[in-house]
Amino acid sequence: MQITLDTKPFAALETDALASYVFEETDPIQGRIAELDQAAAGLLRKLAKSGELTGKALEFTLVHAPGGLKAARLLLVGAGKREQFNGATLRKVTGAALRYLKSRSVKNIAFVVREGDATEETAQAIAEATIVSNFETDKYKTDKKNEKNVDTVLLAGYSEAERAAGEKGLSKGRIIAEAQNFTRDLVNEPSNKLTPRILADKAEAMAKQAGLAVEILDEKKIADLKMGALLSVAQGGPEPPRVMVVTYTPANLKPGAPVIGLIGKAVTFDTGGISIKPAEGMEKMKYDMAGGATMLGVMRALAALKPNVKVICVVPSTENMPGGTAQKPGDIQTAMSGKTIEVLNTDAEGRLILADAVHYAKQLGATHLVDAATLTGAIVVALANINVGVFGSDQAWTDKLLASAKSVGEKMWQLPMDDEYREFIKGSFADIQNIGSGKGGGSITGAWFIREFAGDSPWIHLDIAGTAWNDDAKPWLAKGPTGVALRTLVHLVLSY
Ligand code: BES
Ligand code: ZN
Ligand code: ZN
Repeated sequence: MQITLDTKPFAALETDALASYVFEETDPIQGRIAELDQAAAGLLRKLAKSGELTGKALEFTLVHAPGGLKAARLLLVGAGKREQFNGATLRKVTGAALRYLKSRSVKNIAFVVREGDATEETAQAIAEATIVSNFETDKYKTDKKNEKNVDTVLLAGYSEAERAAGEKGLSKGRIIAEAQNFTRDLVNEPSNKLTPRILADKAEAMAKQAGLAVEILDEKKIADLKMGALLSVAQGGPEPPRVMVVTYTPANLKPGAPVIGLIGKAVTFDTGGISIKPAEGMEKMKYDMAGGATMLGVMRALAALKPNVKVICVVPSTENMPGGTAQKPGDIQTAMSGKTIEVLNTDAEGRLILADAVHYAKQLGATHLVDAATLTGAIVVALANINVGVFGSDQAWTDKLLASAKSVGEKMWQLPMDDEYREFIKGSFADIQNIGSGKGGGSITGAWFIREFAGDSPWIHLDIAGTAWNDDAKPWLAKGPTGVALRTLVHLVLSY
């Protein structure tokens, strides 16, 4: 999809559809909407009077052949109350407008930003929202919805003086949104099309194309490094594990500067192992590699955005299978760090593979850690499918991430990490056990397990089990992979 900025008066824009957003207020026909109304000979005011155009959130008003405008259609999307309007609402409204129009086979759209909104941030949000909402998960369908995709977007409502800021926002937004769709494409792959080896090949190809350093550890190297926790999960099936290490180094790296470590769980299919999962809904466990895919997407964006800090990304990948060679409940494993782990439930495998990956990231020089993982079903109980669960060992580092989430409009919520919860994973027969012995707090005990391997380094864990997959299509987003947390992490690194 092409996105360009056009400073022509919007009444003169030749496009399939001119789209903008309306606020729910006493008189919704204000500012640019009033200008559009004038161009369309008072039609919008009439619609507002009749109660058809109110500005209520996600209300669509479509006018064909609006007199006085060159556009073939005019679409107004309700944005709710003006006081509550923010980047997140703008993204929803823009994405919803695009999906509404593409379902009607519209190929070209001009988005008119409202008075006062012609900024770099708005342009970035519109680029992100249009590219992300244009994505479909129909790769394996022979009847392609993709052919309905929108081809061109014009950003309108900017003056010549505002052009530079707008274009900067568009190019930044494009980089981030394309990285997010790269992640979503990976997450959408079924496990027969995306094994750890295939994921590693894709990571390597991405890194080379983006100009990032990359190393793929195969099963032999993984064994040499004594990654016993990762190997214990991989031993259940015939597919060998992989660890992907992708590194971004800034041009003038100062010695002793902090290094960010991004670690992502990539279980390409989680059957639960011998502690096998119920059949119902098991097909969704193909998205158990979303954390790893997110981190790879972040690296792809960083390669183009060139932050001033070194970033090391470590993605451990394996299947979790219940074969004859699988580990069994009660087995004791030795992690790369030397800690022994009693595996009481083979379905709590994400924390096992992260244990070794976190330790390895530190060994490679990472000083500030973030991991992302579809770690626990319990996070859905706590936060439903709305917020990402955030856990941290260092409040200053965690606050930075929460501020990034807020500024890019991703919902995240911090959960407690009191020492009392650590007691839940104290081992009876080994140093630690991989599930909690207390009742409840399943997401927190999972986080504590990973923290054992982060040691004193500032560390954040993002539990994306409830938010990485969209069960039902939203007006602004296709059903399936969301690419959640990518924008927050890119912002975190850029603002470091
Ligand atoms: N991959 C699952 C977590 C998950 C659940 C992801 C739902 C996406 C949607 C993870 O490996 C798992 O099975 N966790 C167990 C942990 C339990 C055994 C302590 C869980 O949540 O049931
Ligand atoms: Zn599991
Ligand atoms: Zn899992």
